[in-house]
Amino acid sequence: MTDDLQAFYGRWARLYDLIARFPGVGGMLAVARERVDRRGWENVSLLRADAARPPVPESARSVEARSGFPGEASGIDAVLASFVSGMFANPAPVIERWCSLCSPGGRLCLLDAARSSRSIARPLDLAFRAFVLASTPPVGRLRYEEPPWAELDRRVGTAHRTLAARCSAADRATYGLGFVRLTAGTLA
Ligand SMILES: C[S@@+](CC[C@H](N)C(=O)[O-])C[C@H]1O[C@@H](n2cnc3c(N)ncnc32)[C@H](O)[C@@H]1O
Repeated sequence: MTDDLQAFYGRWARLYDLIARFPGVGGMLAVARERVDRRGWENVSLLRADAARPPVPESARSVEARSGFPGEASGIDAVLASFVSGMFANPAPVIERWCSLCSPGGRLCLLDAARSSRSIARPLDLAFRAFVLASTPPVGRLRYEEPPWAELDRRVGTAHRTLAARCSAADRATYGLGFVRLTAGTLA
């Protein structure tokens, strides 16, 4: 993740917090740390890392499938990723990697915003595009090879299809007139 991207979301963290709770705190991680401390949650660990390559060992099954030799079991039961799939230029290998970190029967859930295909949402499409434009770093660009909302649709669609294909039973749902998509499932 680039410094620019982190700085950009550091600013959004303030806005998130203004809307939700306290003003004047730092980046996303600092907000989370403050909340964990305040609530006294002892079963939560926070770390800063690239979500595309989480510093977590692969599951024994994935190691064996790749190398032919049994691996150490990793302790990952579930992955929840909210509003982040659209950040990956190439989401399919990222989702595949998350699946390889989970033990058999592991649960994965993606929640993301993208354009809605519902006719009732059409009047809001322009507002959604403006929102995507305003939240795509660097802000202020006038020309794009592909509009950011089309790129977002492609990334989110790819991420959710990849997850659904890896799960034995995938639940798919949409919220907010179809602008918010959820795909959740159990690893096959
Ligand atoms: C739209 S915010 C969503 C934050 C939070 N998950 C939520 O649901 O409110 C996207 C977050 O993903 C982070 N992010 C983007 N690419 C990332 C990457 N490769 N690794 C880790 N975090 C990343 C950004 O810094 C930002 O904090």
